Amino acid sequence: MGDTYYLTTPIYYPSNKLHIGNAYTTVACDAIARYKRMRGFDVMFLTGTDEHGQKIEERAVAAGKTPQAFVDGMYEDIARLWKRLNISYDRFIRTTDKHHEAAVAEIYETLYKQGDIYKSEYEGWYCTSDESFWTKSQLVDGHCPECGGEVNLTKESSYFFRLSKYADRLEALLASGDFVMPMSRANEMIQNFIRPGLEDLAVTRTSFDWGVKLPFDPEHVAYVWIDALSNYITALGYPDMTGDMAAYWPASVQLIGKDIVRFHVLIWPALLMALNLPLPEKIYAHGWLLMDGGKMSKSKGNVVDPLILSDMYGVDAVRYFLLRELPFGQDGNFSNEALIQRINSDLANDLGNLLSRTVAMIEKYFPEGLPDRRTAGPEDESLLELAGVTADRMAAEMEAFNFSAALHHIFALVARANKYIDETTPWILAKHDADRPRLGTVLYNLADVLRMVAVLISPFMTESPAKIREALGLKKNDPNDGLALDGWESARQTGRFASDGVKKGESLFPRIDMEESLTKLDAISGHSAEQKAKESEAENADQYSEVTFDDFKKLRLQIGTVVEAEAVPKSKKLLKLTVDFGAEKRQIVSGIAAHYTPENIIGKQYLFVTNLAPRKVFGIESQGMILTAEKADASLSLISPLDEVLPGAPIA
Ligand code: MSP
Repeated sequence: MGDTYYLTTPIYYPSNKLHIGNAYTTVACDAIARYKRMRGFDVMFLTGTDEHGQKIEERAVAAGKTPQAFVDGMYEDIARLWKRLNISYDRFIRTTDKHHEAAVAEIYETLYKQGDIYKSEYEGWYCTSDESFWTKSQLVDGHCPECGGEVNLTKESSYFFRLSKYADRLEALLASGDFVMPMSRANEMIQNFIRPGLEDLAVTRTSFDWGVKLPFDPEHVAYVWIDALSNYITALGYPDMTGDMAAYWPASVQLIGKDIVRFHVLIWPALLMALNLPLPEKIYAHGWLLMDGGKMSKSKGNVVDPLILSDMYGVDAVRYFLLRELPFGQDGNFSNEALIQRINSDLANDLGNLLSRTVAMIEKYFPEGLPDRRTAGPEDESLLELAGVTADRMAAEMEAFNFSAALHHIFALVARANKYIDETTPWILAKHDADRPRLGTVLYNLADVLRMVAVLISPFMTESPAKIREALGLKKNDPNDGLALDGWESARQTGRFASDGVKKGESLFPRIDMEESLTKLDAISGHSAEQKAKESEAENADQYSEVTFDDFKKLRLQIGTVVEAEAVPKSKKLLKLTVDFGAEKRQIVSGIAAHYTPENIIGKQYLFVTNLAPRKVFGIESQGMILTAEKADASLSLISPLDEVLPGAPIA
């Protein structure tokens, strides 16, 4: 094995299904990982899920699940998505992994002991959606400057990390020009955060408890960003400094979206400095995929669902589009029209046609196989010259994370090969026996270029390279010297084509009818509610195993009468209920505010689970759970007895 290469994606919040924008970072990382493996590196490619924090806790409450059950389900979905997109990660970390939780506790302990963490009082504005604190002056019109969402004034006792202590070292690091790419992001951080004075960071919370508890003060849970950032080292076994930590740390590159630069180029390196660990070599912050010029969100429907897009257009087409369409460092628009256009022009017209024409002509004119001897013609030179330099051109762009430019070079070669067909007119050569050797040469060169292209596209496309090789009947190794014909070196050398006979297969990228396809996508969106209900039914069926009657008896189900209900301040989802169970009244917090107002439910009877361990939600203790069922439109319905019963009546 060669040198090591460690690269990471951000770890995703499993709060919602991931959209095509989330897939963007992971697909880009996958392209680098595949490229580096091809270049002989011992690659460690890490991705994962960021499973703690207030946002996840609220989502779990709204879904009527425990946070753990909620994230377990979401994790399955995310792992399935990466499988569908052929993401070749080597490791997947979940911040609920036991090793990670223990390691985070130990990181806090270390920092506390050495004085990098101290206790004080925090007052600030908290954005749950981004899980970040802001000072009043940072707010924009009273809202989160990052996402525009609601912020809540929070005052609590908190532990602080001495971020200010690292300001000078951070400035020097960012100004050095190597650490953050693109450089403009580093400058923004220096101007907006370091120069105005870096403040110490509140790194614990007490208002909820879905997180890592501090070993020296278990009332406090770790701030989700410290918890999350640590994943990049705990996944390698940290605090154990042998094994993978010794082999792979520091990371070669950490890819992130521009939205989380602040955390990765200020807090993350400062944390590593405090832990006395080497810093990653590079943080690359890419631009955003926008929709209609605005932010992308799941609410925009199926058009941004990477699973649906992959089913409709194929995984390779989606992956290709993401990395070809926008320059990596900048924002760009995502649209289905643009995706279909790319598929039709680059993939169907250029690459697909080149393959099908080449294979069809070889099959027709040389069913016995191409002759070995070649006769050079004047048109060959410019094609072969370009073919010989394309790998190196692509490599230079890959090193700079310019995926679009790397693909541009590969597709320039494809275009050149198509032009070569027009210049050499093989169908005319085929008419004269005397031109047969020349015809053989032309077809050989075309097949040879396709062989090289199959290698070059393999970081980006995961299924097409094998299909191309199969259609060409390509041998695994060059019979002359055994060079692997799917390896990088073979893509730098022309004249390596060696085949067991071509095979016409299905078309590599069928042309897509724009209108038909967009209509189909709309139709899928229309059916989504019904489909979703079916899916969740199927999921539930899988999830449950048989239980004994004794197990069932352990669950205390009771009817209760809601006597008081009020909105939980600062929360859109939660209602605080006082519920009469006859012998006692209980306080129950429930995520039903989007579906019921207090007036709707006061005085009515509903079904509750009353022997769940009490939990704090938004700082308020909840002593039970109200039961709900999902309606066809995904809203919730409470469950009531048909006739009035005594409050506290047990369910039998
Ligand atoms: N959990 C944190 C990251 C912790 S890393 C230690 C988080 N998660 S996230 O799920 O909200 O988003 C993670 C990443 O998804 C973003 O940084 C970005 O890489 C990617 N994207 C989310 N929306 C995107 C677009 N619209 N376009 C491109 N990438 C986007 O933040």
